[in-house]
Amino acid sequence: MKPRILAVDDDERNLALLTAKLEREGYELDTARNGVEALQKVAVFLPDLIIMDVMMPQMDGYEALRHLKSREETRYIPVIMLTGRAEIEDKVLGFEVGAEDYINKPYSLQEVAARVKSLLRMRSLQTKLRETEKVAALGEMVDGIAHEIRNPLTAIGGMARRLYEGEADPQHKEYAQWIIRSVERLERMLQRIDEYKRILVSTLSKGDINMAVEAAVKDVKDFIDGHGKQISVKMSLMPEPPPVNYDYGNMKTALLNILQNSVEAIMGEGAITVETLPMADETIAIRVTDTGIGMEKEEIRKIFNPFQSTKFEGAGLGLTITYRIIQDHGGEIEVESTKGSGTAVTVRLHPAKQ
Ligand SMILES: Nc1ncnc2c1ncn2[C@@H]1O[C@H](COP(=O)(O)OP(=O)(O)O)[C@@H](O)[C@H]1O
Ligand SMILES: [Mg+2]
Repeated sequence: MKPRILAVDDDERNLALLTAKLEREGYELDTARNGVEALQKVAVFLPDLIIMDVMMPQMDGYEALRHLKSREETRYIPVIMLTGRAEIEDKVLGFEVGAEDYINKPYSLQEVAARVKSLLRMRSLQTKLRETEKVAALGEMVDGIAHEIRNPLTAIGGMARRLYEGEADPQHKEYAQWIIRSVERLERMLQRIDEYKRILVSTLSKGDINMAVEAAVKDVKDFIDGHGKQISVKMSLMPEPPPVNYDYGNMKTALLNILQNSVEAIMGEGAITVETLPMADETIAIRVTDTGIGMEKEEIRKIFNPFQSTKFEGAGLGLTITYRIIQDHGGEIEVESTKGSGTAVTVRLHPAKQ
């Protein structure tokens, strides 16, 4: 997806030049002529960055900036302020209310483009870092809780079994059965947490990524048969992909987790496509597409979090593990989905240096 930029200026000519330049640089642009319009556009266009003039009718740039920075939903959008008044107080004012950058008029379009690029890059690194830290911190917490739960759970399970065996009243027997089943569910979850810990170390060596893909696909076919679903799996692999440094077992686990989710997302009949593709930026993409139930935007944001699951039997750790593995490989994972029509998960890996 192209990064989105909202350009705000009351001067039509400036706005047109700025917009044309940034569109040529590969961004998606929308425009506003004053602060009020800018705030309205922000809510619908959801820009990744805002470039805003200071002197404008109705609501000036500073006031619009203050609004943006005081709201949780818009606080993190970086803003570049453009000003004709180069006084130092203006700069201070701009930074006080939280503009990320400041460019004096007259400016060169080249400079604006360069600043936009560096701000967007910084912002994406920050977001990634926040996510990495979140996953790591949650991982530790999960591990701690699992440790604390294990012994009491064994006791509950053991006692419930004794009650079940010694009980004659069928109603009470059923209650005991319920406890036992719930304990078993939690035990499965603890098992997944153990798996999570074990895969924390990836040992990378040079190899053919198609091998891991093929192995995961083979396993998922068994998984489909086991679930008695009518799902076709199509595989389209690029011939002789450049070698990547990877941990075969962990990568297979990562891909299998993605594939299993696709199977579980398909009710009755459907199709899964697995591809490996060369990308323009020289990374190698592994893309899994399904015709399953899909997700809302809000759901997508949460799927990598531990224990995030919409399934009764789900531990909600599959994608947490996958995320971790892909990170250990220096790769990236992206999810696109449409509620009701399907999901595409793309893993991108860098080829090994020759
Ligand atoms: N391909 C998909 N289609 C629809 N929803 C998905 C897909 N992949 C993941 N999800 C959602 O993300 C959640 C988390 O996935 P995961 O971490 O593997 O846990 P689990 O499979 O145990 O629920 C799932 O419960 C599901 O709601
Ligand atoms: Mg799963």
